[in-house]
Amino acid sequence: MYKFIRGFLFLFDAEKVHYFAASILKNTLRIPLVNSLFRSYFTVKNQRLHRNIFGIDFPNPVGLAAGFDKNATMFPDLFSCGFGFIEIGTITPKGQEGNEKPRLFRLKKDEAIINRMGFNNDGVLKAVEALKKKKKQWVIGGNIGKNKLTSNEDAYSDYLICFEALYPYVDYFVVNVSSPNTPNLRELQDKEPLTALLKGLLMERDKKPEKRPILLKIAPDLSKEQLDDIVDISMELNLDGLVATNTTIDRNGLRSSEHEIQRCGLGGLSGKPLREKATEVIRYLHQQTNGSIPIIGVGGIHTPQDALDKLEAGASLVQLYTGFVYEGPGLIRRINKAILKKNKV
Ligand SMILES: Cc1cc2nc3c(=O)[nH]c(=O)nc-3n(C[C@H](O)[C@H](O)[C@H](O)COP(=O)(O)O)c2cc1C
Repeated sequence: MYKFIRGFLFLFDAEKVHYFAASILKNTLRIPLVNSLFRSYFTVKNQRLHRNIFGIDFPNPVGLAAGFDKNATMFPDLFSCGFGFIEIGTITPKGQEGNEKPRLFRLKKDEAIINRMGFNNDGVLKAVEALKKKKKQWVIGGNIGKNKLTSNEDAYSDYLICFEALYPYVDYFVVNVSSPNTPNLRELQDKEPLTALLKGLLMERDKKPEKRPILLKIAPDLSKEQLDDIVDISMELNLDGLVATNTTIDRNGLRSSEHEIQRCGLGGLSGKPLREKATEVIRYLHQQTNGSIPIIGVGGIHTPQDALDKLEAGASLVQLYTGFVYEGPGLIRRINKAILKKNKV
């Protein structure tokens, strides 16, 4: 059924379709009976799917990755698709347009997406308003970043503004320093600025009566030395978790023609071609931290086996974006069923 709908949707511009599909979902789920049928079909409820990671109870370990619900306007409908948690954002202090359109492309032959959205979002205050619709049982992560015009030297204050504003409304935070689409952002992954950024946020967090976990989202394109730095920093600062990985700038091994790839231009590649690379980063981080830091595994999950591979490599939870676009909500259900089947005892 979804493949049929997808065939139609994929005829049109990718970014327009994103909002069109979201509005169809919203309007369809307005009908209470349809909503409850939809939810009960796609949601797999089972105590054995529950996970308690960094102090949060997740009803199942399959989440929606950041970037899909940038402004926190879609999550009430997306929870009906069966997700165990949803990460909103990336949110920046001020609203910003993002890069010039077109900036979102499908590489159908590769079951991939290239995007250079550039943190388009309505700003943190709008997100706070939207998050007032959150129900207590919904687990929501707040993915935070900096505005394009803010220099890396001043980045900390941007992260802090988002952190403080979102604190009462989200369950955990993800510090995003790994998007390839904001100039120089990934330099914040270097040891010195990263330590300062995380230390500052953790210090502010520790002053609060209720402790929200802080995670770091990293790129799949880091060298072994850079990954070792991430491991050192995470262990030293007692970071709550890592999200691995963001999109890649690598274009090797794609099936799409050179012409098609060139047509997309710069940006982050997600989906199937990212799968192995992301899994290897997860495996490495898990080994180097001796499993002491929970990892959310993301990148190229298009089948239940892909999700099981990420869990086997050391992820405690998984997230999807591109797989959700290509496979639809049935994928979440299939992954949860596969996890139950695998952990029968
Ligand atoms: C169109 C698009 C926009 C994205 N925007 C964000 C973002 O704002 N912040 C972020 O941390 N990751 C963002 N991502 C990255 C995803 O969260 C995820 O890490 C990546 O796509 C790999 O997962 P996937 O292969 O399942 O898509 C975006 C991805 C896509 C495709």
